[in-house]
Amino acid sequence: MPPVGLHNRDSAYFYKANGPRNLITDQSVCRHTYQLHISNTKEPCVKAKTNTSVEMANKVAVVTGSNKGVGFAIVRALCKNFKGDVILTARNPELGHAAVQELEKEGLHPKFHQLDISDHASVTALRDFLQNTYQGIDVLVNNAGIAYKAASTAPFSEQAEVTLKTNYFSTLDLCETLFPLLRPHARVSNVSSMVSQFALAKCSDALKARFVSTDITMDELTGIMKKFVQSAQNGTHQAEGFPESSYGMSKVGVTVMSMIQQREMDKKGADDIVINACCPGYVDTDMTSHKGKLTIDQGAETPAYLALLPPGVKEPRGQFVRELKVADWKM
Ligand SMILES: NC(=O)c1ccc[n+]([C@@H]2O[C@H](COP(=O)([O-])OP(=O)(O)OC[C@H]3O[C@@H](n4cnc5c(N)ncnc54)[C@H](OP(=O)(O)O)[C@@H]3O)[C@@H](O)[C@H]2O)c1
Repeated sequence: MPPVGLHNRDSAYFYKANGPRNLITDQSVCRHTYQLHISNTKEPCVKAKTNTSVEMANKVAVVTGSNKGVGFAIVRALCKNFKGDVILTARNPELGHAAVQELEKEGLHPKFHQLDISDHASVTALRDFLQNTYQGIDVLVNNAGIAYKAASTAPFSEQAEVTLKTNYFSTLDLCETLFPLLRPHARVSNVSSMVSQFALAKCSDALKARFVSTDITMDELTGIMKKFVQSAQNGTHQAEGFPESSYGMSKVGVTVMSMIQQREMDKKGADDIVINACCPGYVDTDMTSHKGKLTIDQGAETPAYLALLPPGVKEPRGQFVRELKVADWKM
């Protein structure tokens, strides 16, 4: 079925199609039944089986932290709209298998693999599985994340260390481990937060200037994130220009990391690999103590949209996206 026309004001990824399938339902954007036009025009992936025969390798999408919440709904959206295998991952296999079973009741068929992003051995086990089974990755959604509750009595120094470890350092480690497997036209959707914008606004001008610059490197960013944790331990973070938000700083890290990753890919001459950061909105999940207004499926819309951007997309690319639109990231 060829696409019959662009519909969405922001993107070229919704195409009207016949048939009651494949909905990402954002009523403000899309009131009809659409088929996501994903990279099904790509060259097929071919893997060498023996010297004399080849077989087609399935495309594959991986979602971190997807046994519940936004990640679970991203898996659901990808199962409906991505032409390939979708891997639901969880650090606790029991929770992961239960989540797979829940989706199977809906007629969806994700696969499961254990993944604790803070355990490097778990990350390399996933990499080896993907390498052996698919010889590559087509979609990676970095969704796993943690947040202390506002009422937490844990010292700020501890919150800074633990939050940065999962949300920034472990996500970066996972990217460094899995990125060598990204195939041409791969899409990476890093789930950050609008809180990264609020935290950016509260940084000193000197820090802001570095976070919005186009020449900041990953080493420099990681150095700043380490400095934040260290200064939180010394009780000097505010004097050093950091805001009073560990979660906010960790998500500043995720947003800026995504921008740097796109520049690095482009510098290497990667073939149409597109990396973006996003906010899912304020979602009804355990993380928000179910105070968020959006359902998990609504929260999954922007991360899934970025995961399914069509081949050759010019924007968004290395940007921060909210509600399907590129959002400000500036001084
Ligand atoms: N909810 C919101 O309003 C909102 C707003 C902005 C951004 N976000 C971001 O959206 C993402 C999903 O949030 P959510 O609201 O769905 O949170 P959630 O319901 O708490 O789910 C978080 C998921 O991440 C997993 N996780 C945490 N640490 C992990 C680790 N080390 N390795 C692997 N998985 C890990 C959790 O696994 P367990 O079940 O084992 O804990 C869970 O599956 C997060 O990155 C969050 O920061 C959420």
